[in-house]
Amino acid sequence: MKADATFQAPPPGARPDWTIDQGWEAYSDAEHQVWITLYERQTALLPGRACDAFLRGLDALDLHRTGIPDFARVNEELSRLTGWSVVAVPGLVPDDVFFDHLANRRFPAGQFIRKPQELDYLQEPDIFHDVFGHVPMLTDPVFADYMQAYGKGGQRALGFGHLHNLARLYWYTVEFGLMETAAGLRIYGAGIVSSYSESRFALDDPSPNRLGFDLERVMRTPYRIDDFQQVYFVVPALQTLLDVTVETDFAPLYARLETASDIPIAAIEPADRVFTRGTQAYANAGGRT
Ligand code: PHE
Ligand code: FE
Repeated sequence: MKADATFQAPPPGARPDWTIDQGWEAYSDAEHQVWITLYERQTALLPGRACDAFLRGLDALDLHRTGIPDFARVNEELSRLTGWSVVAVPGLVPDDVFFDHLANRRFPAGQFIRKPQELDYLQEPDIFHDVFGHVPMLTDPVFADYMQAYGKGGQRALGFGHLHNLARLYWYTVEFGLMETAAGLRIYGAGIVSSYSESRFALDDPSPNRLGFDLERVMRTPYRIDDFQQVYFVVPALQTLLDVTVETDFAPLYARLETASDIPIAAIEPADRVFTRGTQAYANAGGRT
C-alpha cells in the first residue's frame, strides 16, 4: 500500500490496472536460487510457529523448492480453493488500485526478487514476501473473505479520508498478526512469516508487547516500517477478526478517531489484554542500527 491521493498513471508496459506479465521464463538461475534459499530457510523455521492455515496453504499451493513459482500454476489451485488469484505488478501500486484488486479477489504481487546480498532486509515487498508471505493465507476461506472485505473497506476509507487508520489494521493483522491457539501463539502475518529474523523475534523475544486485538485500539496505534515491531496484536481466531471487522460500521469509528489521540507505540493501556509485557530492550538499544 502506498499513501497517495492523486491519480498516478501506471508505468510504461503496465496495464491500466497496473498489472504486468510475470514473465516467468525470464527469471535467471540466480534469481530462482534466491527463492530456494529463502524458501528452505523459512519452511525449516515455521512448523510450530506459523498458524495451521498458513502451513496448510503452503502445502496446498506447492510453492516448490525448485524456484520462483509460476503464477499461472499457483492460480490453478488458489482459484479452485477460494476464488483468489495472484497478479504481477512492478512494485507498490496506488491505494485505489490495490483496493480494487483486493475487492475482486486478486492479490497484486511484486514480480521481482531481492538480490542475494539483501536476503534479510528490503524496503519494497518483492515476490518472496508477497507470494510466500501472503498467498498461503489466501487459501483459507475465512482469511480470503477478510482480505476481500478489507479491499472494500479500503475504498470506503479513502472516501472518508481515514486510510491512515485503516492501514494500521492491515499492518497489525495481514502483515504482523499473531493468533492465539491451544498450542500457544502462532504467526499469520505475512511480514513475519516471510522474515527469518522476525519469525523468531515476534514469538520469542522478550522485547515487544503482545496484546489482545481490539479494533479501535489497533487503529490508534502507529507502526514501524523500518524495524521489528514494538507491539504485536493477537486475535483469538481468524473468524473473530472477520466477524468484528465486517460487522462493525467503520464510519462512526473514523469519526471518533478524528479527536482520539494516537496511543504511543510501546504503551500498554488499562483495557489491554496482555500476553507479554515487553521489555522494549531491543528498541531501546537502538534496534537494527
Ligand atoms: N466494516 C468495514 C467498514 O465499514 C469494512 C471492513 C471490513 C474493513 C473488513 C476492513 C476489514 O468500512
Ligand atoms: Fe505485505
